[in-house]
Amino acid sequence: MANIVITGELFADAVDRLIHAGHSVIHRAEPSPIHRDELLAAARDADALICLVSDRIDEQMLARSPNLRIIANVAVGYENIDTEAAKRHGISVTNTPDVLTETTADLTVGLMLAVARQIAGGDRDVRAGRFGAWGLLPLRMGTDVHGKALGIVGMGRIGTAVARRGRFGFGMHVLYYDRGRNFPAEQELGAVHVPLDRLLQQSDFVCIHVPLTPSTHHMFGAPQFRRMKRTAYLINVARGPIVDEEALVEALHAGWIAGAGLDVYENEPSVHPALIALDNRTVLLPHIGSATRETRRAMAHIAVDNVLAQLSGRQPPNLVPDS
Ligand code: NAP
Ligand code: GLV
Repeated sequence: MANIVITGELFADAVDRLIHAGHSVIHRAEPSPIHRDELLAAARDADALICLVSDRIDEQMLARSPNLRIIANVAVGYENIDTEAAKRHGISVTNTPDVLTETTADLTVGLMLAVARQIAGGDRDVRAGRFGAWGLLPLRMGTDVHGKALGIVGMGRIGTAVARRGRFGFGMHVLYYDRGRNFPAEQELGAVHVPLDRLLQQSDFVCIHVPLTPSTHHMFGAPQFRRMKRTAYLINVARGPIVDEEALVEALHAGWIAGAGLDVYENEPSVHPALIALDNRTVLLPHIGSATRETRRAMAHIAVDNVLAQLSGRQPPNLVPDS
């Protein structure tokens, strides 16, 4: 019997699989992120940890958890975990790729539409009794999405799924920047691999889908925003710190770009007050890229699959690349 700690809410049917396998489960089924001290205390005797992107799993925590054998992140991104430290301690790290790809791509398209067609602002106006400020004014308008140039930064799983929606759903022309070539996407979607500068200059929608790593931290700052079209939109459903938020605010204020649709922020759960104030240029979501019932359940079961594999001596199916 192993001790398994789950730091946040998780589907009961997934948790039950751990209990039915004979393990002892401490499930902190709270809707708020676990406090650091509580995390350190809970993980001290744990053999397995199922955690969320809001949990910082670092050397200090790992050094205090001598029995830990696996950290199963309920997310595809895993920059919240010090994977090098985990490796030094002989601890497996797993994530939940693939099952959230389509759901996250749906939300990305939703943000493109919401910001370009002013869906969120229109909704706010109707609720505030300002219907007439819109419907009857021929020159109050947004921007088309269909037929435009879509720039994908990071043509991996989610980037490709967004590109597919853009190409086949909206007749968009797809450019992409990635450190490698994605030949299947080029063939299927006619996507063109370009340097980042060219993507910024030519795209009407720039969608970020790279992971957060030292090489992508602040990949978007003032120089990148200055290169974008003044009519273009930035969409970030990847990670907040990929964008220098101060520079984004400056770009929006100065009109270097038309707007931004964001699901992620540099200092979550804080959101830069200027982004909130710029409500005619931004659409802001609370990190809900994968947040559908179907996908969150699938993610929970994948985390459990990984833990059960590790605890029964098998290789977990979703070890992260540098684990
Ligand atoms: P993925 O399949 O690994 O795609 C990422 C792509 O970016 C890969 O092609 C990767 O190349 C490329 N890349 C990595 N570093 C790069 C760099 N420095 N310059 C250029 N390209 C680079 O990952 P995914 O499943 O699509 O997920 C992408 C990210 O989305 C996750 O890491 C996560 O942070 C975020 N996400 C957010 C939400 C949300 O709720 N908002 C939900 C799901 C995912 P290689 O293959 O060579 O590494
Ligand atoms: C969510 O942010 C994820 O990385 O899955």
